[in-house]
Amino acid sequence: TQLDRIRNFSIVAHIDHGKSTLADRLIQLTGTVAERDMKDQLLDAMDIERERGITIKANTVRIEYPAKDGHTYILNLIDTPGHVDFAYEVSRSMRAVEGSLLVVDASQGVEAQTLANVYTAIDANHEIVPVLNKIDLPAAEPDRVREQIEDVIGIDASEAVEISAKSGLGIPEVLEAIVTRLPAPKGDRDAPLKAMLVDSWYDPYLGVVVLIRVMDGVIRKGDKIKMMQTGATHGVDKLAVLKPAMVDTPELGPGEIGIFTGSIKQVRDTKVGDTITHEKKGCTEPLPGFKPSIPVVFCGLFPVDSNDFEGLRGAIDKLALNDASFTYEMESSAALGFGFRCGFLGLLHLEVIRDRLEREYDIDLITTAPSVVYHVHMRDGSMQELHNPADLPDLTHVDHIEEPRIKATILVPDEYLGDVLKLCQDRRGIQAELTYAGSRAMVVYDLPLNEVVFDFYDRLKSVTKGYASFDYEITGYREDRLVKMQILVNDEPVDALSMMVHRDRAEGRGRAMCEKLKELIPRHMFKIPIQAAIGGKVIARETLAAMRKDVTAKCYGGDVTRKKKLLEKQKAGKKKMRQFGKVEIPQQAFISALKMD
Ligand code: GTP
Repeated sequence: TQLDRIRNFSIVAHIDHGKSTLADRLIQLTGTVAERDMKDQLLDAMDIERERGITIKANTVRIEYPAKDGHTYILNLIDTPGHVDFAYEVSRSMRAVEGSLLVVDASQGVEAQTLANVYTAIDANHEIVPVLNKIDLPAAEPDRVREQIEDVIGIDASEAVEISAKSGLGIPEVLEAIVTRLPAPKGDRDAPLKAMLVDSWYDPYLGVVVLIRVMDGVIRKGDKIKMMQTGATHGVDKLAVLKPAMVDTPELGPGEIGIFTGSIKQVRDTKVGDTITHEKKGCTEPLPGFKPSIPVVFCGLFPVDSNDFEGLRGAIDKLALNDASFTYEMESSAALGFGFRCGFLGLLHLEVIRDRLEREYDIDLITTAPSVVYHVHMRDGSMQELHNPADLPDLTHVDHIEEPRIKATILVPDEYLGDVLKLCQDRRGIQAELTYAGSRAMVVYDLPLNEVVFDFYDRLKSVTKGYASFDYEITGYREDRLVKMQILVNDEPVDALSMMVHRDRAEGRGRAMCEKLKELIPRHMFKIPIQAAIGGKVIARETLAAMRKDVTAKCYGGDVTRKKKLLEKQKAGKKKMRQFGKVEIPQQAFISALKMD
Protein backbone atom coordinates (compact mmCIF):
# COMPACT_ATOMS: atom_id res chain seq x y z
CA THR A 1 0.00 0.00 0.00
CA GLN A 2 1.18 3.49 -0.79
CA LEU A 3 2.11 5.40 2.35
CA ASP A 4 -0.10 8.37 1.56
CA ARG A 5 -3.17 6.10 1.44
CA ILE A 6 -2.63 4.95 5.04
CA ARG A 7 -3.79 6.64 8.23
CA ASN A 8 -2.93 5.19 11.62
CA PHE A 9 -4.73 6.47 14.68
CA SER A 10 -5.93 5.79 18.19
CA ILE A 11 -8.87 7.09 20.15
CA VAL A 12 -8.20 8.79 23.46
CA ALA A 13 -10.97 9.43 25.95
CA HIS A 14 -11.95 9.32 29.56
CA ILE A 15 -13.74 6.14 30.62
CA ASP A 16 -17.35 6.06 29.42
CA HIS A 17 -17.04 8.97 27.03
CA GLY A 18 -17.80 6.62 24.15
CA LYS A 19 -14.53 5.35 22.74
CA SER A 20 -15.75 1.80 22.11
CA THR A 21 -19.08 2.94 20.70
CA LEU A 22 -17.31 5.22 18.23
CA ALA A 23 -14.93 2.43 17.20
CA ASP A 24 -17.92 0.17 16.57
CA ARG A 25 -19.58 2.81 14.38
CA LEU A 26 -16.43 3.37 12.31
CA ILE A 27 -16.18 -0.36 11.68
CA GLN A 28 -19.86 -0.65 10.90
CA LEU A 29 -20.07 2.29 8.53
CA THR A 30 -17.16 1.06 6.45
CA GLY A 31 -18.67 -2.42 6.21
CA THR A 32 -15.58 -3.95 7.75
CA VAL A 33 -17.73 -6.45 9.59
CA ALA A 34 -20.92 -7.89 8.15
CA GLU A 35 -23.92 -6.40 9.89
CA ARG A 36 -25.02 -9.70 11.40
CA ASP A 37 -21.58 -10.21 12.98
CA MET A 38 -21.64 -6.82 14.57
CA LYS A 39 -21.67 -7.06 18.31
CA ASP A 40 -21.82 -3.98 20.42
CA GLN A 41 -18.40 -2.99 21.63
CA LEU A 42 -16.75 -5.37 19.31
CA LEU A 43 -13.29 -4.44 20.40
CA ASP A 44 -13.68 -5.25 24.08
CA ALA A 45 -13.12 -8.95 23.79
CA MET A 46 -13.21 -10.19 27.33
CA ASP A 47 -16.44 -10.41 29.28
CA ILE A 48 -14.94 -8.78 32.26
CA GLU A 49 -13.86 -5.82 30.21
CA ARG A 50 -17.35 -5.47 28.91
CA GLU A 51 -18.85 -5.77 32.33
CA ARG A 52 -16.60 -3.17 33.85
CA GLY A 53 -16.55 -1.11 30.69
CA ILE A 54 -12.79 -1.02 30.72
CA THR A 55 -10.54 -1.82 27.81
CA ILE A 56 -7.48 -3.64 29.05
CA LYS A 57 -5.65 -5.10 26.09
CA ALA A 58 -5.01 -2.98 23.08
CA ASN A 59 -7.02 -4.19 20.12
CA THR A 60 -6.66 -3.18 16.56
CA VAL A 61 -8.70 -3.07 13.39
CA ARG A 62 -7.93 -2.26 9.77
CA ILE A 63 -10.68 -0.39 7.98
CA GLU A 64 -10.94 0.33 4.25
CA TYR A 65 -12.52 3.68 3.59
CA PRO A 66 -13.42 5.14 0.16
CA ALA A 67 -12.91 8.86 0.77
CA LYS A 68 -14.56 11.81 -0.95
CA ASP A 69 -11.38 12.39 -3.00
CA GLY A 70 -12.10 9.13 -4.85
CA HIS A 71 -9.27 7.13 -3.28
CA THR A 72 -9.61 4.23 -0.89
CA TYR A 73 -7.66 4.62 2.32
CA ILE A 74 -6.46 2.04 4.83
CA LEU A 75 -7.31 3.26 8.32
CA ASN A 76 -5.63 1.39 11.16
CA LEU A 77 -7.22 1.95 14.54
CA ILE A 78 -5.32 0.91 17.62
CA ASP A 79 -7.59 0.65 20.62
CA THR A 80 -5.51 1.69 23.61
CA PRO A 81 -6.25 0.68 27.20
CA GLY A 82 -8.21 3.32 29.06
CA HIS A 83 -6.98 3.09 32.61
CA VAL A 84 -4.11 4.63 34.56
CA ASP A 85 -2.68 1.26 35.52
CA PHE A 86 -1.82 0.70 31.90
CA ALA A 87 -0.20 4.04 31.25
CA TYR A 88 2.95 2.49 29.82
CA GLU A 89 1.03 0.35 27.35
CA VAL A 90 -0.90 3.42 26.27
CA SER A 91 2.25 5.42 25.71
CA ARG A 92 3.84 2.63 23.63
CA SER A 93 0.83 1.96 21.46
CA MET A 94 0.55 5.67 20.77
CA ARG A 95 4.05 5.66 19.34
CA ALA A 96 2.81 3.19 16.75
CA VAL A 97 0.38 5.70 15.20
CA GLU A 98 0.50 9.29 13.93
CA GLY A 99 -2.76 10.75 15.19
CA SER A 100 -5.56 10.58 17.72
CA LEU A 101 -9.24 11.24 17.88
CA LEU A 102 -9.82 13.00 21.18
CA VAL A 103 -13.30 11.97 22.27
CA VAL A 104 -14.95 14.12 24.90
CA ASP A 105 -18.45 13.56 26.21
CA ALA A 106 -20.18 16.87 25.43
CA SER A 107 -22.38 16.55 28.49
CA GLN A 108 -19.44 15.95 30.84
CA GLY A 109 -16.46 17.81 29.49
CA VAL A 110 -12.76 17.18 30.00
CA GLU A 111 -11.87 14.66 32.75
CA ALA A 112 -8.65 13.54 34.39
CA GLN A 113 -8.03 10.66 31.98
CA THR A 114 -8.86 12.87 29.01
CA LEU A 115 -5.95 15.00 30.11
CA ALA A 116 -3.55 12.18 30.90
CA ASN A 117 -4.25 10.42 27.62
CA VAL A 118 -4.19 13.48 25.43
CA TYR A 119 -0.86 14.55 26.92
CA THR A 120 0.51 11.12 26.11
CA ALA A 121 -0.71 11.60 22.54
CA ILE A 122 0.86 15.05 22.36
CA ASP A 123 4.12 13.57 23.69
CA ALA A 124 3.99 11.07 20.85
CA ASN A 125 3.74 14.01 18.40
CA HIS A 126 0.21 13.17 17.38
CA GLU A 127 -2.00 15.30 15.25
CA ILE A 128 -5.24 15.50 17.24
CA VAL A 129 -8.82 15.74 16.00
CA PRO A 130 -11.22 16.69 18.81
CA VAL A 131 -14.56 14.88 18.68
CA LEU A 132 -17.51 15.95 20.82
CA ASN A 133 -19.64 12.90 21.51
CA LYS A 134 -23.15 12.38 22.89
CA ILE A 135 -24.54 15.58 21.37
CA ASP A 136 -27.90 13.77 21.28
CA LEU A 137 -28.12 14.22 25.05
CA PRO A 138 -30.19 17.19 26.24
CA ALA A 139 -27.38 18.01 28.69
CA ALA A 140 -24.81 18.30 25.92
CA GLU A 141 -23.01 21.65 25.79
CA PRO A 142 -20.71 21.40 22.79
CA ASP A 143 -19.78 25.09 22.84
CA ARG A 144 -18.77 25.07 26.47
CA VAL A 145 -16.77 21.84 26.05
CA ARG A 146 -15.06 23.18 22.92
CA GLU A 147 -13.93 26.18 24.95
CA GLN A 148 -12.84 23.93 27.78
CA ILE A 149 -10.69 21.83 25.45
CA GLU A 150 -8.96 24.98 24.28
CA ASP A 151 -8.50 26.39 27.81
CA VAL A 152 -7.45 23.27 29.61
CA ILE A 153 -5.64 21.24 26.96
CA GLY A 154 -4.53 24.12 24.82
CA ILE A 155 -5.38 22.71 21.40
CA ASP A 156 -7.57 24.25 18.71
CA ALA A 157 -11.09 22.88 19.02
CA SER A 158 -12.85 25.22 16.59
CA GLU A 159 -13.18 22.37 14.08
CA ALA A 160 -14.14 19.69 16.56
CA VAL A 161 -16.50 17.16 15.01
CA GLU A 162 -19.86 16.92 16.76
CA ILE A 163 -21.22 13.40 16.85
CA SER A 164 -23.49 10.92 18.48
CA ALA A 165 -21.68 7.62 18.44
CA LYS A 166 -24.89 6.06 19.63
CA SER A 167 -27.12 7.17 16.76
CA GLY A 168 -24.38 7.35 14.13
CA LEU A 169 -24.72 11.10 13.61
CA GLY A 170 -21.47 12.69 12.41
CA ILE A 171 -19.59 9.43 11.80
CA PRO A 172 -18.98 10.12 8.06
CA GLU A 173 -17.44 13.47 9.08
CA VAL A 174 -15.11 11.66 11.50
CA LEU A 175 -13.91 9.35 8.70
CA GLU A 176 -13.24 12.33 6.42
CA ALA A 177 -11.41 14.13 9.20
CA ILE A 178 -9.15 11.11 9.73
CA VAL A 179 -8.14 11.19 6.07
CA THR A 180 -7.83 14.94 5.63
CA ARG A 181 -6.52 16.05 9.02
CA LEU A 182 -4.25 13.24 10.19
CA PRO A 183 -0.82 12.82 8.57
CA ALA A 184 0.19 9.78 6.51
CA PRO A 185 2.92 7.59 8.04
CA LYS A 186 6.52 7.92 6.89
CA GLY A 187 8.98 5.11 6.29
CA ASP A 188 11.57 3.68 3.94
CA ARG A 189 10.67 0.47 2.16
CA ASP A 190 14.26 -0.18 1.11
CA ALA A 191 15.76 0.23 4.58
CA PRO A 192 16.37 -2.76 6.90
CA LEU A 193 13.25 -3.97 8.72
CA LYS A 194 12.36 -1.97 11.81
CA ALA A 195 9.02 -2.71 13.46
CA MET A 196 7.59 -1.97 16.88
CA LEU A 197 6.10 -4.67 19.07
CA VAL A 198 2.84 -2.97 20.05
CA ASP A 199 1.04 -5.76 21.90
CA SER A 200 0.85 -9.53 22.17
CA TRP A 201 -1.64 -12.07 23.39
CA TYR A 202 -2.04 -15.80 23.70
CA ASP A 203 -4.26 -17.63 21.27
CA PRO A 204 -5.02 -21.26 22.06
CA TYR A 205 -4.64 -22.28 18.39
CA LEU A 206 -1.84 -20.03 17.20
CA GLY A 207 0.27 -19.59 20.31
CA VAL A 208 1.50 -16.08 20.97
CA VAL A 209 0.22 -13.50 18.49
CA VAL A 210 2.36 -10.39 18.12
CA LEU A 211 0.93 -7.07 16.97
CA ILE A 212 3.46 -4.92 15.13
CA ARG A 213 3.76 -1.59 13.37
CA VAL A 214 6.28 -1.57 10.58
CA MET A 215 8.41 1.60 10.54
CA ASP A 216 10.92 0.75 7.80
CA GLY A 217 11.52 -2.21 5.50
CA VAL A 218 9.20 -5.12 4.78
CA ILE A 219 8.33 -8.22 6.77
CA ARG A 220 7.25 -11.32 4.83
CA LYS A 221 5.87 -14.70 5.70
CA GLY A 222 8.75 -17.14 6.23
CA ASP A 223 11.24 -14.43 7.31
CA LYS A 224 13.60 -15.01 10.21
CA ILE A 225 13.20 -12.17 12.67
CA LYS A 226 14.91 -11.03 15.84
CA MET A 227 13.57 -9.14 18.86
CA MET A 228 16.26 -6.63 19.74
CA GLN A 229 15.66 -6.34 23.51
CA THR A 230 15.38 -10.03 24.27
CA GLY A 231 17.65 -11.25 21.48
CA ALA A 232 15.18 -14.05 20.67
CA THR A 233 14.79 -15.15 17.04
CA HIS A 234 11.72 -16.64 15.38
CA GLY A 235 10.44 -17.67 12.00
CA VAL A 236 7.34 -15.82 10.75
CA ASP A 237 4.75 -18.60 10.40
CA LYS A 238 1.72 -16.44 9.86
CA LEU A 239 1.38 -12.82 8.80
CA ALA A 240 -2.02 -11.15 8.80
CA VAL A 241 -4.00 -7.95 9.16
CA LEU A 242 -6.91 -7.61 11.60
CA LYS A 243 -10.29 -6.77 10.09
CA PRO A 244 -10.74 -7.43 13.06
CA ALA A 245 -10.65 -11.16 12.18
CA MET A 246 -7.22 -12.25 10.91
CA VAL A 247 -6.79 -12.07 7.15
CA ASP A 248 -3.49 -13.46 5.83
CA THR A 249 -1.20 -11.15 3.94
CA PRO A 250 2.07 -11.98 2.15
CA GLU A 251 3.88 -8.92 3.52
CA LEU A 252 3.62 -5.81 5.65
CA GLY A 253 5.45 -2.67 4.57
CA PRO A 254 6.20 0.72 6.13
CA GLY A 255 3.24 2.34 7.89
CA GLU A 256 1.33 -0.94 8.10
CA ILE A 257 -0.01 -2.61 11.19
CA GLY A 258 -0.63 -6.33 11.51
CA ILE A 259 0.19 -9.49 13.40
CA PHE A 260 2.61 -12.37 13.09
CA THR A 261 3.01 -15.68 14.87
CA GLY A 262 6.17 -17.70 15.13
CA SER A 263 6.06 -20.51 17.68
CA ILE A 264 6.52 -18.13 20.60
CA LYS A 265 5.56 -19.97 23.78
CA GLN A 266 4.74 -17.23 26.26
CA VAL A 267 3.51 -13.65 26.15
CA ARG A 268 6.29 -13.06 28.66
CA ASP A 269 8.84 -13.57 25.87
CA THR A 270 7.49 -10.55 24.01
CA LYS A 271 8.19 -7.11 25.41
CA VAL A 272 5.85 -4.28 24.47
CA GLY A 273 7.94 -1.55 22.86
CA ASP A 274 10.65 -3.95 21.63
CA THR A 275 12.09 -3.50 18.14
CA ILE A 276 11.69 -6.31 15.62
CA THR A 277 14.12 -6.66 12.74
CA HIS A 278 15.50 -9.37 10.47
CA GLU A 279 17.93 -11.84 11.99
CA LYS A 280 20.33 -11.18 9.10
CA LYS A 281 20.96 -7.69 7.69
CA GLY A 282 18.78 -6.21 10.42
CA CYS A 283 18.72 -2.62 11.52
CA THR A 284 21.39 -1.60 14.04
CA GLU A 285 19.56 1.02 16.11
CA PRO A 286 16.49 -0.05 18.09
CA LEU A 287 13.51 2.30 18.46
CA PRO A 288 14.10 4.72 21.34
CA GLY A 289 12.44 4.75 24.74
CA PHE A 290 11.93 1.07 25.48
CA LYS A 291 11.24 0.27 29.11
CA PRO A 292 9.81 -2.90 30.56
CA SER A 293 6.56 -2.49 32.48
CA ILE A 294 7.08 -3.35 36.12
CA PRO A 295 4.57 -4.31 38.79
CA VAL A 296 4.11 -1.70 41.51
CA VAL A 297 1.46 -3.24 43.76
CA PHE A 298 1.90 -6.63 45.41
CA CYS A 299 -0.37 -8.83 47.43
CA GLY A 300 -0.71 -12.43 48.48
CA LEU A 301 -3.46 -14.60 46.99
CA PHE A 302 -4.34 -17.69 49.01
CA PRO A 303 -7.06 -20.24 48.44
CA VAL A 304 -9.67 -20.25 51.20
CA ASP A 305 -9.70 -24.02 50.95
CA SER A 306 -6.13 -25.32 50.91
CA ASN A 307 -7.26 -28.17 48.65
CA ASP A 308 -7.67 -25.55 45.92
CA PHE A 309 -3.97 -24.74 45.84
CA GLU A 310 -3.16 -26.82 42.75
CA GLY A 311 -6.21 -25.44 41.02
CA LEU A 312 -5.06 -21.92 41.83
CA ARG A 313 -1.59 -22.65 40.49
CA GLY A 314 -3.06 -23.88 37.21
CA ALA A 315 -5.36 -20.87 36.93
CA ILE A 316 -2.57 -18.39 37.64
CA ASP A 317 -0.26 -20.08 35.13
CA LYS A 318 -3.00 -19.77 32.53
CA LEU A 319 -3.78 -16.12 33.25
CA ALA A 320 -0.10 -15.25 33.17
CA LEU A 321 0.18 -16.74 29.68
CA ASN A 322 -1.80 -13.80 28.45
CA ASP A 323 -0.64 -11.07 30.78
CA ALA A 324 3.05 -10.43 30.87
CA SER A 325 2.76 -7.57 33.33
CA PHE A 326 1.40 -9.82 36.04
CA THR A 327 4.11 -11.58 38.10
CA TYR A 328 3.83 -14.31 40.71
CA GLU A 329 5.83 -16.60 42.91
CA MET A 330 4.88 -19.17 45.49
CA GLU A 331 4.58 -17.96 49.04
CA SER A 332 3.79 -19.72 52.27
CA SER A 333 2.20 -18.05 55.23
CA ALA A 334 1.98 -19.44 58.75
CA ALA A 335 -1.69 -18.58 58.88
CA LEU A 336 -2.83 -18.99 55.30
CA GLY A 337 -0.78 -21.94 54.12
CA PHE A 338 0.41 -22.02 50.50
CA GLY A 339 -0.44 -19.32 48.03
CA PHE A 340 1.17 -16.82 45.67
CA ARG A 341 2.77 -13.44 46.02
CA CYS A 342 1.56 -11.54 42.98
CA GLY A 343 2.65 -8.28 41.40
CA PHE A 344 0.32 -5.95 39.48
CA LEU A 345 0.55 -2.72 37.51
CA GLY A 346 -1.93 -1.12 39.88
CA LEU A 347 -5.00 -1.70 42.00
CA LEU A 348 -7.40 -2.11 39.13
CA HIS A 349 -5.16 -4.70 37.54
CA LEU A 350 -5.18 -6.54 40.87
CA GLU A 351 -8.96 -6.47 41.04
CA VAL A 352 -9.36 -7.69 37.49
CA ILE A 353 -7.04 -10.67 38.03
CA ARG A 354 -8.60 -11.57 41.37
CA ASP A 355 -12.08 -11.39 39.87
CA ARG A 356 -11.13 -13.60 36.98
CA LEU A 357 -9.59 -16.21 39.27
CA GLU A 358 -12.72 -16.29 41.38
CA ARG A 359 -15.19 -16.27 38.55
CA GLU A 360 -13.63 -18.09 35.65
CA TYR A 361 -11.83 -20.66 37.76
CA ASP A 362 -14.25 -20.76 40.67
CA ILE A 363 -11.67 -20.42 43.43
CA ASP A 364 -12.44 -18.59 46.68
CA LEU A 365 -9.47 -16.41 47.53
CA ILE A 366 -8.07 -14.53 50.47
CA THR A 367 -6.31 -11.38 49.35
CA THR A 368 -3.72 -9.99 51.74
CA ALA A 369 -3.15 -6.27 52.24
CA PRO A 370 -1.92 -4.75 48.98
CA SER A 371 1.55 -3.37 49.41
CA VAL A 372 3.69 -1.14 47.26
CA VAL A 373 7.38 -1.84 46.63
CA TYR A 374 9.56 -0.22 49.30
CA HIS A 375 13.25 0.45 49.00
CA VAL A 376 14.94 -0.74 52.19
CA HIS A 377 18.38 0.81 52.53
CA MET A 378 20.64 -1.28 54.75
CA ARG A 379 23.38 0.00 57.03
CA ASP A 380 25.96 -1.72 54.84
CA GLY A 381 24.91 0.53 51.94
CA SER A 382 22.98 -2.09 49.98
CA MET A 383 19.33 -1.72 48.97
CA GLN A 384 16.62 -4.36 49.03
CA GLU A 385 13.26 -4.16 47.32
CA LEU A 386 10.53 -5.10 49.76
CA HIS A 387 7.48 -6.67 48.11
CA ASN A 388 6.00 -8.19 51.24
CA PRO A 389 5.91 -6.58 54.69
CA ALA A 390 6.52 -10.04 56.14
CA ASP A 391 10.02 -10.00 54.62
CA LEU A 392 11.15 -6.77 56.28
CA PRO A 393 14.73 -7.43 57.46
CA ASP A 394 15.82 -7.04 61.08
CA LEU A 395 15.55 -3.31 61.78
CA THR A 396 18.95 -3.15 63.47
CA HIS A 397 20.43 -3.61 59.98
CA VAL A 398 18.15 -1.09 58.32
CA ASP A 399 19.30 2.46 57.78
CA HIS A 400 16.16 3.94 56.22
CA ILE A 401 13.12 3.03 54.13
CA GLU A 402 11.86 4.81 51.03
CA GLU A 403 8.41 4.63 49.53
CA PRO A 404 7.08 5.38 46.03
CA ARG A 405 5.34 8.74 45.51
CA ILE A 406 2.88 9.68 42.82
CA LYS A 407 1.69 12.77 41.08
CA ALA A 408 -2.09 12.62 41.29
CA THR A 409 -4.30 14.80 39.10
CA ILE A 410 -7.89 15.23 40.22
CA LEU A 411 -10.64 17.12 38.44
CA VAL A 412 -13.59 17.98 40.60
CA PRO A 413 -16.61 20.29 40.58
CA ASP A 414 -16.12 23.28 42.84
CA GLU A 415 -18.52 22.28 45.57
CA TYR A 416 -16.58 19.11 46.41
CA LEU A 417 -13.15 20.68 46.34
CA GLY A 418 -12.94 21.05 50.11
CA ASP A 419 -13.61 17.36 50.67
CA VAL A 420 -11.04 16.34 48.10
CA LEU A 421 -8.37 18.55 49.65
CA LYS A 422 -9.14 17.07 53.05
CA LEU A 423 -8.92 13.52 51.69
CA CYS A 424 -5.55 14.18 50.06
CA GLN A 425 -4.28 15.92 53.17
CA ASP A 426 -5.37 12.97 55.31
CA ARG A 427 -3.41 10.68 53.02
CA ARG A 428 -0.16 12.57 53.64
CA GLY A 429 -0.51 14.49 50.40
CA ILE A 430 1.36 17.65 49.50
CA GLN A 431 -0.54 20.05 47.27
CA ALA A 432 1.37 20.96 44.15
CA GLU A 433 -1.16 22.86 42.03
CA LEU A 434 -4.69 24.17 42.15
CA THR A 435 -6.23 25.70 39.03
CA TYR A 436 -9.68 26.20 37.59
CA ALA A 437 -11.20 25.12 34.31
CA GLY A 438 -14.66 26.62 34.21
CA SER A 439 -16.55 25.47 37.28
CA ARG A 440 -14.16 22.60 37.86
CA ALA A 441 -11.03 22.64 39.91
CA MET A 442 -7.92 20.78 38.88
CA VAL A 443 -5.78 19.75 41.85
CA VAL A 444 -2.39 18.17 41.60
CA TYR A 445 -1.05 16.37 44.65
CA ASP A 446 2.16 14.65 45.55
CA LEU A 447 0.97 11.55 47.43
CA PRO A 448 2.51 8.35 48.76
CA LEU A 449 1.33 5.46 46.56
CA ASN A 450 0.87 3.42 49.72
CA GLU A 451 -1.97 5.72 50.80
CA VAL A 452 -3.69 5.31 47.45
CA VAL A 453 -3.63 1.53 47.11
CA PHE A 454 -6.07 0.84 49.90
CA ASP A 455 -9.28 2.61 49.10
CA PHE A 456 -8.45 6.00 47.70
CA TYR A 457 -10.62 5.61 44.58
CA ASP A 458 -13.57 4.49 46.65
CA ARG A 459 -13.21 7.36 49.09
CA LEU A 460 -12.76 9.90 46.32
CA LYS A 461 -15.87 8.63 44.60
CA SER A 462 -17.92 8.72 47.75
CA VAL A 463 -16.90 12.20 48.92
CA THR A 464 -17.56 13.66 45.47
CA LYS A 465 -20.68 11.60 44.67
CA GLY A 466 -18.84 10.18 41.69
CA TYR A 467 -18.10 13.57 40.10
CA ALA A 468 -14.34 13.58 40.53
CA SER A 469 -11.96 12.00 38.08
CA PHE A 470 -8.50 10.82 38.96
CA ASP A 471 -5.25 9.91 37.29
CA TYR A 472 -1.74 9.28 38.56
CA GLU A 473 1.82 8.55 37.62
CA ILE A 474 4.70 7.37 39.77
CA THR A 475 7.30 10.07 40.23
CA GLY A 476 9.97 8.49 42.42
CA TYR A 477 11.00 7.28 45.86
CA ARG A 478 11.29 9.28 49.07
CA GLU A 479 12.39 8.42 52.60
CA ASP A 480 9.79 8.57 55.35
CA ARG A 481 9.14 7.21 58.84
CA LEU A 482 7.72 3.87 57.84
CA VAL A 483 7.09 0.98 60.20
CA LYS A 484 5.63 -2.49 60.00
CA MET A 485 2.38 -2.94 61.88
CA GLN A 486 1.33 -6.43 62.89
CA ILE A 487 -2.12 -7.62 63.89
CA LEU A 488 -2.40 -10.21 66.65
CA VAL A 489 -5.55 -12.21 67.15
CA ASN A 490 -5.58 -14.16 70.39
CA ASP A 491 -1.86 -13.32 70.69
CA GLU A 492 -1.04 -14.93 67.34
CA PRO A 493 0.27 -12.64 64.59
CA VAL A 494 -1.86 -12.83 61.45
CA ASP A 495 0.82 -12.28 58.81
CA ALA A 496 -1.71 -11.65 56.06
CA LEU A 497 -2.76 -8.47 57.83
CA SER A 498 0.75 -7.08 58.39
CA MET A 499 1.31 -3.80 56.65
CA MET A 500 3.77 -0.99 56.27
CA VAL A 501 2.41 2.31 57.59
CA HIS A 502 3.66 5.77 58.34
CA ARG A 503 4.57 6.04 62.04
CA ASP A 504 2.19 8.96 62.63
CA ARG A 505 -0.71 7.06 61.11
CA ALA A 506 -0.04 3.74 62.83
CA GLU A 507 -2.24 4.29 65.92
CA GLY A 508 -5.22 5.41 63.86
CA ARG A 509 -4.87 2.56 61.39
CA GLY A 510 -4.27 0.05 64.18
CA ARG A 511 -7.32 1.18 66.11
CA ALA A 512 -9.56 1.13 63.04
CA MET A 513 -8.30 -2.32 62.13
CA CYS A 514 -8.90 -3.77 65.61
CA GLU A 515 -12.41 -2.30 65.74
CA LYS A 516 -13.23 -3.70 62.31
CA LEU A 517 -11.93 -7.14 63.18
CA LYS A 518 -13.90 -7.14 66.39
CA GLU A 519 -17.06 -6.79 64.32
CA LEU A 520 -15.99 -9.26 61.68
CA ILE A 521 -14.73 -12.15 63.75
CA PRO A 522 -17.56 -14.25 65.16
CA ARG A 523 -17.59 -14.86 68.90
CA HIS A 524 -15.93 -17.98 70.20
CA MET A 525 -16.31 -19.86 73.47
CA PHE A 526 -13.48 -17.81 74.93
CA LYS A 527 -12.42 -14.17 75.10
CA ILE A 528 -10.24 -13.02 72.16
CA PRO A 529 -7.83 -10.10 72.37
CA ILE A 530 -7.27 -8.30 69.05
CA GLN A 531 -4.16 -6.13 68.99
CA ALA A 532 -2.10 -3.98 66.66
CA ALA A 533 1.61 -3.84 67.38
CA ILE A 534 4.80 -2.26 66.09
CA GLY A 535 7.80 -4.37 66.96
CA GLY A 536 6.88 -5.70 70.39
CA LYS A 537 4.82 -2.68 71.33
CA VAL A 538 1.02 -2.88 71.33
CA ILE A 539 -0.50 0.34 69.96
CA ALA A 540 -4.19 -0.59 69.84
CA ARG A 541 -6.35 -3.23 71.41
CA GLU A 542 -9.92 -4.54 71.40
CA THR A 543 -11.40 -7.54 73.14
CA LEU A 544 -14.01 -9.78 71.63
CA ALA A 545 -16.18 -11.13 74.43
CA ALA A 546 -16.82 -14.85 74.75
CA MET A 547 -20.01 -16.37 73.42
CA ARG A 548 -22.48 -17.23 76.13
CA LYS A 549 -24.42 -20.10 74.65
CA ASP A 550 -24.14 -22.72 72.01
CA VAL A 551 -25.90 -21.46 68.86
CA THR A 552 -27.93 -24.61 68.65
CA ALA A 553 -29.11 -24.18 72.24
CA LYS A 554 -32.16 -22.25 71.14
CA CYS A 555 -33.23 -25.25 69.11
CA TYR A 556 -33.41 -27.58 72.08
CA GLY A 557 -36.72 -29.26 72.24
CA GLY A 558 -37.42 -28.04 68.75
CA ASP A 559 -37.41 -30.26 65.75
CA VAL A 560 -34.29 -32.06 64.71
CA THR A 561 -34.29 -31.06 61.06
CA ARG A 562 -34.11 -27.42 61.95
CA LYS A 563 -31.11 -28.10 64.14
CA LYS A 564 -29.49 -30.11 61.39
CA LYS A 565 -30.06 -27.31 58.91
CA LEU A 566 -28.43 -24.83 61.24
CA LEU A 567 -25.38 -27.03 61.63
CA GLU A 568 -25.18 -27.50 57.92
CA LYS A 569 -25.32 -23.78 57.34
CA GLN A 570 -22.50 -23.36 59.81
CA LYS A 571 -20.48 -25.98 57.99
CA ALA A 572 -20.89 -24.17 54.67
CA GLY A 573 -19.89 -20.95 56.36
CA LYS A 574 -16.80 -22.68 57.74
CA LYS A 575 -15.45 -23.25 54.27
CA LYS A 576 -15.14 -19.49 54.05
CA MET A 577 -13.31 -19.38 57.39
CA ARG A 578 -9.67 -19.68 58.20
CA GLN A 579 -8.25 -21.18 61.35
CA PHE A 580 -5.71 -19.02 63.21
CA GLY A 581 -4.54 -20.92 66.26
CA LYS A 582 -7.79 -21.47 68.08
CA VAL A 583 -9.65 -18.70 66.28
CA GLU A 584 -11.64 -18.84 63.07
CA ILE A 585 -11.60 -15.73 60.91
CA PRO A 586 -14.03 -15.36 58.00
CA GLN A 587 -12.65 -14.61 54.57
CA GLN A 588 -14.65 -11.41 54.40
CA ALA A 589 -12.71 -10.08 57.41
CA PHE A 590 -9.51 -9.89 55.41
CA ILE A 591 -11.08 -7.86 52.67
CA SER A 592 -13.12 -5.59 54.94
CA ALA A 593 -10.40 -5.03 57.52
CA LEU A 594 -8.20 -3.50 54.86
CA LYS A 595 -10.78 -0.92 53.85
CA MET A 596 -10.03 2.05 56.06
CA ASP A 597 -12.24 4.83 57.50
P1 GTP B 1 -14.29 2.48 28.28
O1 GTP B 1 -14.24 1.27 27.36
O2 GTP B 1 -14.71 2.13 29.66
O3 GTP B 1 -13.12 3.37 28.18
O4 GTP B 1 -15.55 3.34 27.82
P2 GTP B 1 -15.74 3.95 26.41
O5 GTP B 1 -15.13 5.29 26.38
O6 GTP B 1 -15.37 2.96 25.39
O7 GTP B 1 -17.30 4.19 26.42
P3 GTP B 1 -18.42 3.33 25.72
O8 GTP B 1 -18.29 3.36 24.26
O9 GTP B 1 -18.47 2.02 26.39
O10 GTP B 1 -19.68 4.21 26.10
C1 GTP B 1 -20.04 4.46 27.42
C2 GTP B 1 -21.54 4.64 27.52
O11 GTP B 1 -21.96 5.80 26.82
C3 GTP B 1 -22.32 3.49 26.92
O12 GTP B 1 -23.43 3.24 27.75
C4 GTP B 1 -22.76 4.01 25.57
O13 GTP B 1 -23.97 3.43 25.13
C5 GTP B 1 -22.95 5.48 25.86
N1 GTP B 1 -22.76 6.31 24.66
C6 GTP B 1 -21.71 6.26 23.81
N2 GTP B 1 -21.87 7.16 22.83
C7 GTP B 1 -23.03 7.81 23.07
C8 GTP B 1 -23.75 8.87 22.42
O14 GTP B 1 -23.36 9.40 21.39
N3 GTP B 1 -24.91 9.26 22.99
C9 GTP B 1 -25.39 8.70 24.11
N4 GTP B 1 -26.53 9.17 24.60
N5 GTP B 1 -24.75 7.72 24.77
C10 GTP B 1 -23.60 7.26 24.26
